[in-house]
Amino acid sequence: MLQVASESAPAGRLPDAPIVATEAPLLERYLDLRHRTEALAKGLSADDCQVQGMADASPVKWHLAHTSWFFETFLLSPQPGYAPFDAHYAALFNSYYQGLGAPRPRAARGLWSRPTLAEVRRYRAHVDAAMATLLQREPAPGLLDLGLAHEQQHQELILTDVKYALWCSPLQPAYRSGPLPARLAPLPARWIERPGVLVEIGADMDGFAFDNERPRHRHWCDAHALASRTVTNGEYLDFIRDRGYETPALWVSDGWALVQREGWNRPLYWNEDLESHFTLRGVQLLDLGEPVCHLSWYEADAYARWAGARLPREQEWEAAAAAWPVLGQFAESGRLHPRAASSASPEFFGNVWEWTASPYVAYPGYRAPAGALGEYNGKFMCNQMVLRGGSCATPAGHSRASYRNFFPPHARWQFSGLRLARDLP
Ligand SMILES: [Fe+2]
Repeated sequence: MLQVASESAPAGRLPDAPIVATEAPLLERYLDLRHRTEALAKGLSADDCQVQGMADASPVKWHLAHTSWFFETFLLSPQPGYAPFDAHYAALFNSYYQGLGAPRPRAARGLWSRPTLAEVRRYRAHVDAAMATLLQREPAPGLLDLGLAHEQQHQELILTDVKYALWCSPLQPAYRSGPLPARLAPLPARWIERPGVLVEIGADMDGFAFDNERPRHRHWCDAHALASRTVTNGEYLDFIRDRGYETPALWVSDGWALVQREGWNRPLYWNEDLESHFTLRGVQLLDLGEPVCHLSWYEADAYARWAGARLPREQEWEAAAAAWPVLGQFAESGRLHPRAASSASPEFFGNVWEWTASPYVAYPGYRAPAGALGEYNGKFMCNQMVLRGGSCATPAGHSRASYRNFFPPHARWQFSGLRLARDLP
């Protein structure tokens, strides 16, 4: 039975205004970004903010606290005279930094009824007041950009984690009210061909980038072609109907074992009828023209093999994407769901993160930064795959051509889809 999103359902609202530009005063940028995080939780009850749907996801309340902890730990605590809101929080809201003491087990975050949501909001206000004082001083703190980018990453996680948590409820409530706006017919995919070429990828030293995007370096790409858009629900449905989930030859060994163990036969959030799925607007009819998402790397890889193609390598993706502006459907559109490709030009950004064929490893010459912040990205460079481009839940301005997201190959609660690639003779 199709359950339609109700107008009375909780309605989290993102500010529609554009993100405050990077040249704006630092305090204005900081407060704008913090306000956006709080706006994501606005339509949610304290009960909603408490739920941890699975070990990989975190409660909204934890995200609200941990993002404040980041500013407190790395920017405020080194300041003489800074008084913490609560001395226990330094250990409580440490996510994974072993250099700062043993973090609490991630899977138990949903069990913490204290501090309450109201206390966490007071904690945020305390940190904001101290940051306001700090940001009015000169020079600007060097880690501010990292703190802001970190909070943007958690803004996206709030959306993906709350989607999973609401899906776990038998009522399957909507995060935002109202149906998804009108459907668009997807444009046919084209192949964009590239001869063998030496490319330069990675972030240069101008502007903010995460350490894992550097150093910029050269990489040889053999002749290849990339699809002009990502794979749609309709195309993925053809894979399912062609018994893709029942054909071991399409899967790598670990993926086939996982499919057998978990009984996977469709993307996460698709209903058994293959006609409807759970979205942040509740259960909606499946739009066959929209990009398919909530796929694991294993599913993306198997689909590509079934289609007679392969996943793009991250260097191929970046070299192609760098030629295009970072435009696409990001979280600020308010849709919070992928939409069909509507432009004849290739779109590389927004909508869905694109799994690549590339393992998440260090670039040549990479060195993790010294100290606890060296744990931010470097220690995860094993057993994860790179995703590129950003999604409909990524804040605008957060992604760029050199951006490397990474998740283990079984993860599928992010807005993750795929673009096809193929080798050329
Ligand atoms: Fe974090």
